[in-house]
Amino acid sequence: MNPDDFSRVRSLWTHCGLPSRPNGRDSEQHIRRELSDNTASFLVAVDPDETLIGTVFATHDGRKGWINRLAVDPRWRRRGVAQALVAVAEAELRRNGIEIIGCLIEDGNDASEQLFVTLGYSRHDDIHYFTKRDRPDI
Ligand SMILES: CC(C)(COP(=O)(O)OP(=O)(O)OC[C@H]1O[C@@H](n2cnc3c(N)ncnc32)[C@H](O)[C@@H]1OP(=O)(O)O)[C@@H](O)C(=O)NCCC(=O)NCCS
Repeated sequence: MNPDDFSRVRSLWTHCGLPSRPNGRDSEQHIRRELSDNTASFLVAVDPDETLIGTVFATHDGRKGWINRLAVDPRWRRRGVAQALVAVAEAELRRNGIEIIGCLIEDGNDASEQLFVTLGYSRHDDIHYFTKRDRPDI
């Protein structure tokens, strides 16, 4: 991804119904800052006409890696695009010495759950996600 892709990325997420935080961590300002940071890899997939059809953001804090904002245009689903994006994201994280990678999946997102199980991820029903937010929309 380069900073000029920002509006195309936002449109794809809307088209895919992907929840995001446009006034928080998905704001243009926030993403531009992350793009200049070497702990984040923001990857996009494009079709042969250079139309943007997929996104994934790989981030890490030096301890764990995270797969974020994975989305594929509905017209391109079930063709291995997400699988390819996650493979590249994982390779980027491993290149940075990261050996554990997680992702957060909303309850009921069966497609995503099935995808990550297929890719070798384990579900942890014994872990509850707690957050502390400086503002509600971050
Ligand atoms: C989840 C999502 C990213 C999958 O993208 P995709 O490009 O269609 O996925 P792939 O083609 O790489 O699928 C690889 C494997 O994952 C599993 N899978 C993917 N979508 C699936 C679905 N709808 N139902 C069941 N299994 C699915 C299958 O095992 C699939 O292999 P197969 O097609 O050979 O059976 C896509 O449906 C999407 O963008 N959803 C909306 C946004 C979203 O929920 N993102 C994830 C947030 S955590």
